[in-house]
Amino acid sequence: MEHILNRYESVSNTEVKTWFKVGQTSDFPENSGACIKYKTKQIAVFNFTRTGKWYASQNLCPHKMEMVLSLGMIGDKEGVPKVACPLHKKNFSLENGSNLAGEDLKIAVYPIKIENENVYIGFED
Ligand code: FES
Repeated sequence: MEHILNRYESVSNTEVKTWFKVGQTSDFPENSGACIKYKTKQIAVFNFTRTGKWYASQNLCPHKMEMVLSLGMIGDKEGVPKVACPLHKKNFSLENGSNLAGEDLKIAVYPIKIENENVYIGFED
């Protein structure tokens, strides 16, 4: 069976083949996360109103393989936007998906763009 983590790999802007519309900006809570589905992936969408930035990552926490990251607290660590897993508080960068404690855990992050109040996430497939 395919390991669920293998479904998730970071996508850079230049790799995007599909900009998938996930809703309108008003559909998403401010300064927290929400979860959307794309094919077999669960994606967490984060709306940072303090900075006006949006981020998207896998919803799966790689620590215990729980679909929970969209429920995590968001904030920043020394200017790096991050999400803290609600279960054991591991912190991940929403810029590159790295674990901010330097642990060997990472999450996939996806490009996100806002056009005419619509929210799009970029995928390779
Ligand atoms: S399941 Fe996310 S930190 Fe443990």
